[in-house]
Amino acid sequence: MISSTSTMQHLLLLLLILTTQHFIPSLSEKCNPHDKKALLQIKKELGNPTQLSSWNPTTDCCERDKWLGILCDIHIETYRVNTLDLSDLDLPEPLPIPPSIFTNLPFLHDLTFNHIPNLVGPIPPSIANLTKLQYLFIMRTNISGEIPNTLSQIKTLIGIILYYNKLTGTLPDTLPSLPNLEEIAFVHNQLTGSIPESYGTFSNSFTALSLSRNRLSGKIPASLAKLNLLYVDLSRNALEGDASVFFGSKKRIEYIILGNNSFAFDLGKVRLPKNLKRLDLRNNKIYGTLPKELMKLKHLSKLNVSNNNLCGEIPVGGKLQRFDKSCYAHNRCLCGFPLRPCKT
Ligand SMILES: *[C@@H]1O[C@H](CO)[C@@H](O)[C@H](O)[C@H]1NC(C)=O
Ligand SMILES: *[C@@H]1O[C@H](CO)[C@@H](O)[C@H](O)[C@H]1NC(C)=O
Ligand SMILES: *[C@@H]1O[C@H](CO)[C@@H](O)[C@H](O)[C@H]1NC(C)=O
Ligand SMILES: *[C@@H]1O[C@H](CO)[C@@H](O)[C@H](O)[C@H]1NC(C)=O
Repeated sequence: MISSTSTMQHLLLLLLILTTQHFIPSLSEKCNPHDKKALLQIKKELGNPTQLSSWNPTTDCCERDKWLGILCDIHIETYRVNTLDLSDLDLPEPLPIPPSIFTNLPFLHDLTFNHIPNLVGPIPPSIANLTKLQYLFIMRTNISGEIPNTLSQIKTLIGIILYYNKLTGTLPDTLPSLPNLEEIAFVHNQLTGSIPESYGTFSNSFTALSLSRNRLSGKIPASLAKLNLLYVDLSRNALEGDASVFFGSKKRIEYIILGNNSFAFDLGKVRLPKNLKRLDLRNNKIYGTLPKELMKLKHLSKLNVSNNNLCGEIPVGGKLQRFDKSCYAHNRCLCGFPLRPCKT
């Protein structure tokens, strides 16, 4: 009697174990089936690179550190894929950005392509389908074509980092309509044309403008004086004229990097922002004298004004005598330590 009940209990228990074991994977899998399907399609569109071997259909794409470069939204427990970070992929042949990303991963916040030499073709206008995107990073790829103006339809964007690709065409002039945008970095591409007038209307949250190493030309629009930047880098372009819009005693800017352009303005007339950490004006046509206020900048750690048309004495004091003489060299008639003494 006792023994038969206990056998029965054992059988029941065994049955329970077997059934739950059978159901565990599907019950606990958090990866949304649409997202899993989309990711497997993306893997296929990328030519099944070996680096994505962890994207295995029998495992949970939302399990931490399981699928390389994938994160799911666990905070609000929707478990939708919100981050796709594809770095260091060896694609078998030149391939475009997988189109499935734009149609089948609608919950993406962060999209990164980093160091994928065989990634080619344009950034498609359909990127605007990613209506929740906050950060777009495309770095060290062979992506070409224009920066699509449709980016300005993605109102959630915070940062657009397109560094070291083969992008051409002009700067999209509609980006300032993005209310949350904090940073654009279109560094080291082949962008042409001038900086749009509209760039003076970026919102107050916009802090970093990096356009260095392109083929930008023309003058800086006066409207840019309204920006509340912390960081500007326009170095290595063919920009000209007045760049004094970035200066001013009330500005909070810390980095002004304008080297290797054809800027020409009177440096003696600008008021310096108090928090300036780095001022790089090398290789331009800037004239006038070095402002005495330079001595008062407590945070100034890098200065290079070489190869300009500056004149007069290097103000004596603050950190100014600690910079190497190469930082002052090749001006029209700049003098005083660390350069040779001024003639009296
Ligand atoms: C672009 O493609 C060429 C040829 O494959 C490669 O040598 C180069 O590294 C690629 N550029 C980048 C930024 O990946
Ligand atoms: C996605 O983009 C394509 C191409 O721009 C467009 O035809 C389609 O309507 C878009 N889909 C959605 C859901 O926005
Ligand atoms: C200017 O160009 C030179 C030579 O190409 C480079 O070494 C230097 O870093 C550039 N400076 C800036 C501020 O871009
Ligand atoms: C300052 O710029 C000049 C010109 O590009 C360069 O030769 C020099 O090395 C720079 N000095 C420092 C300390 O970076």
